[in-house]
Amino acid sequence: MSKIKKIAVFTSGGDAPGMNACIRAVVRTGIYLGYEVAGIKQGYQGMIDDNIENMSRHSVSNIMQLGGTVLKTARCLAFKNPDGMQKAYENLKKRGIDALVAIGGDGTFTGAERFSSTYDIPVICVPGTIDNDLYGSDFTLGFDTATNTVIEAIDKIRDTAESHDRLFFIEVMGRDAGCIALRAGIASGAEAIMLPEKDTAISELIDLLEHGAANKKSSSIVIVAEGDKNGGAFGVAKLVKEKFDFYDTKVTILGHLQRGGSPSSFDRILGSRMGYAAVKALINGDNRKMVGLRGNEIVLTDLKEALTDHEFKLEDDLMEMSIILA
Ligand code: F6P
Repeated sequence: MSKIKKIAVFTSGGDAPGMNACIRAVVRTGIYLGYEVAGIKQGYQGMIDDNIENMSRHSVSNIMQLGGTVLKTARCLAFKNPDGMQKAYENLKKRGIDALVAIGGDGTFTGAERFSSTYDIPVICVPGTIDNDLYGSDFTLGFDTATNTVIEAIDKIRDTAESHDRLFFIEVMGRDAGCIALRAGIASGAEAIMLPEKDTAISELIDLLEHGAANKKSSSIVIVAEGDKNGGAFGVAKLVKEKFDFYDTKVTILGHLQRGGSPSSFDRILGSRMGYAAVKALINGDNRKMVGLRGNEIVLTDLKEALTDHEFKLEDDLMEMSIILA
């Protein structure tokens, strides 16, 4: 039997659509199963500052459809040092919190793993990041919504690109991962996609664009992931323009609009499933694990494994398709 009495949930790192559905599921599952549930504001910073409140079923009403996170989030440097962690632990203890659900990306998981091993407090993590770059889950919370947001934006840019016969370089988020770029590029029929995972030579890109122009394409769209090694969309545009100046070129950086907005049905359901599964896992005695989705099954992966095996690979078929179908 579980000795847990009170579970606290928090979000940390970059916000992602679907986090609210997950918070709601943690609160309601916990209460349904007879546990007390608290919400920690601003992630690890709120743990240090004792910015914590008790949650009721009602406190998570009408949040499912909201983007962002009602618990707020932060990237907290103070939690990286022992004093910060000690303060956080004392605050949790004072409030009788004896288990945690952490929603975030790999930075969140690293903090959770260290905290849980140092203070022997069980923690289950939920992958919440638009980047979709975590080992142990086919999809992370927010990725589907962000990709749909990007596709909608590219479709609009396509209208004006086509009207003016222009070449657009559109930068999308993803410092280390090209998941959004690859999927949004395929779904919007982009002429080329520049990814952090693949070194695409500028000469290769120019060949692709020339091929398109020879095939009577009057406008072209190149998706550039933020982490592309040529210096993002501005860098790629500059290099292309030097060699290929008959096109009128434009650059659009989609930026943080990709992180906001009402979550898709996929992210609402995924958030609900993962929040529910995280509470069940804690109650079953699991610790330092990440909840993930593998082939429509909810699975648990050891946090250490999720963090060390963090070599994310884009799907080979999608990579090949993105060139064939462009
Ligand atoms: O990790 C999610 C993410 O949106 C990345 O795609 C992006 O590189 C980063 O966060 C931006 O972080 P911030 O909002 O702190 O600038």
